[in-house]
Amino acid sequence: MTHSPPVLDLSRIRESVEEVLDDFFARKMASRVPHLPDLTTPLRQFISSGGKRVRPVFSMVGWHAAGGGRIRAACHLAAALELIHAFALIHDDVMDRSDSRRGRPTMHRHFARQHPGPPSAADQFGTGAAILLGDLALVWSDELLHSGGLTRQQMSAVLPLLDEMRTELVHGQYLDLVNGHRPPEMSCALTVIRYKTAKYTVERPLQLGATLAGADATLLAALSSYAIPVGEAFQLRDDLLGVFGDPAATGKPALDDLREGKATVLISLALRRASRSQADQLRHYHGCPTLTEEQAQVARGIITATDAPRMVESMITQRYEEAMTTLDTLPIEPAAKDALRHLAASAVRRRS
Ligand code: IPE
Ligand code: IPE
Ligand code: MG
Ligand code: MG
Repeated sequence: MTHSPPVLDLSRIRESVEEVLDDFFARKMASRVPHLPDLTTPLRQFISSGGKRVRPVFSMVGWHAAGGGRIRAACHLAAALELIHAFALIHDDVMDRSDSRRGRPTMHRHFARQHPGPPSAADQFGTGAAILLGDLALVWSDELLHSGGLTRQQMSAVLPLLDEMRTELVHGQYLDLVNGHRPPEMSCALTVIRYKTAKYTVERPLQLGATLAGADATLLAALSSYAIPVGEAFQLRDDLLGVFGDPAATGKPALDDLREGKATVLISLALRRASRSQADQLRHYHGCPTLTEEQAQVARGIITATDAPRMVESMITQRYEEAMTTLDTLPIEPAAKDALRHLAASAVRRRS
């Protein structure tokens, strides 16, 4: 009798990670210091307000791909990655001055509304409080990882990669800020997406999970050649959704990237291909903090007329195909390959 290989149950994986997050926050609620303000509830609400859990799932699949082991440690690592992601998003929304995330007010907007003092000080209070909440998410990600029962050997294998990931993320975000004040160059825009997204979203989570299961350097390098194109395609899709997406599906406003004047690959291509008058008009709207929906429609029309969205689509497809070709050669079991095939497709074809 032949057996088909076990299929990795991604919903079950998500549930296990959710259970660890729920337990962690239940413990935090129970051990709250009565005289201190409650930051646990807003962070808990942020974490449970949605989110695709992309990074935890990649880390769990990486762990399976490298042979698995004790699931408790893997789920704690995965949940810790979601807390790191929360830190990145909360701070990112302050930096990008975004009003909504996951269909709700961003954390700095939420805190501004709660401000006990005069309205003139509300924005500054909101920003300060959101910075602290992001810091708390980062600190608690470490605490979660340390409570996961990892062996000393696992911990010393995982920590250097985790340090690397966090350092890359901060540098990617900083590069994004710096680029916001320069005319967007294609090569810079590509470096930004690699550092601010591809590595912490796909590459490092996969490698961290695999490292926990004892993967060697050869397997880690092989996983990276699948992960980087998928991670870049994930951010290229985000850039398209940031301008053309449906806010009801993305949970994020469709004006932010234009208002912020983000130097994305999409804008870089559009400006390069625009006629002089199109480029002048696009530059006028791109980075205009008071941009209206009508003006955004004009900007979208110009971007579309340059054919830049179709070119970004083909960059996404190219990266997806590169990842699929690499996947065929990876020395991992078929169930893990199937999961990675499925995850790559959802990363590039998503609407949210
Ligand atoms: C948003 O990440 C930030 C990027 C790196 C593009 P996600 O698209 O994974 O956000 P959630 O967790 O699903 O909200
Ligand atoms: C994504 O930044 C990277 C991080 C959040 C670390 P963006 O600013 O492009 O992502 P969104 O569109 O706000 O989610
Ligand atoms: Mg942002
Ligand atoms: Mg940003």
